[in-house]
Amino acid sequence: MNPDTVAIIFSQREMIRGHFLMTLQVPISFRKSLPGQFVMIRMESDHGPFLSRPLSISSVYSKGNETFMELLYKVVGKGTKLFSRLKEGTALRAAGPLGKGFDLSPSSRKIILIAGGIGVVPLAFLAQRCRERFPDPDIICYLGAGEAGVIPGLERLEQVCSEVKISTDDGSRGYHGTVTELFRQDLGCYNGDDVRIYSCGPRSMLRSLQTLLQDQPIACQVSLEERMACGIGACLGCVVRTRGDDGEEKLVRACTEGPVFDIKRVIFEA
Ligand code: FES
Repeated sequence: MNPDTVAIIFSQREMIRGHFLMTLQVPISFRKSLPGQFVMIRMESDHGPFLSRPLSISSVYSKGNETFMELLYKVVGKGTKLFSRLKEGTALRAAGPLGKGFDLSPSSRKIILIAGGIGVVPLAFLAQRCRERFPDPDIICYLGAGEAGVIPGLERLEQVCSEVKISTDDGSRGYHGTVTELFRQDLGCYNGDDVRIYSCGPRSMLRSLQTLLQDQPIACQVSLEERMACGIGACLGCVVRTRGDDGEEKLVRACTEGPVFDIKRVIFEA
């Protein structure tokens, strides 16, 4: 991990309403970033760790000797609003890559992605990595959004996935309903031995998915979207309830032990 380095905004644009893609020029050490990992970003002029914002990594790529990291984010508060107004050439501080990313298994013949809203970010990165590393992977993405005009990451997913199935809350595009309902219609087609599911989205969505999969022998990893203040295990602001190997409840920090977990381990509040 880079403790805290300078990252320069190479470009920034609004992809869809309220969702921005920021490309940063970063040190070469970011090339080892894994899908599911995140970075803590702050303005160079801020000195308090509590002013940092965690952003999931959308992709990392190289051009010549230079390394670039893409961050697709949704404006949800003061910090991200401030980020969205920054121009090319602005220097930021970036700490990362942080946390544990997804475990990519080359033995899986079918990869299922289930994304809710901005939870698509680490999954699009994962799909891209699978496409780069494995021969001809079969990647099917279930993508849930509020409405047709606000489906983050769709363009990228359509480039790297074999198939993208969409659901919207208002029925303006694809299936009318939740993404887990859409996935449930196909669940019977998937055989546990050669399937791996990766998911990220709101807790209510992940809880529904956990219920759907509870009797299924299908491996599923989820990335939790927790609030994070420090990102390095110091503030305990991101503690989540999980179940250990012995079945006992265990509190763990999402920023260091996660944010990716086996779905069967996470205890979601009702
Ligand atoms: Fe501070 Fe996890 S964000 S301990």
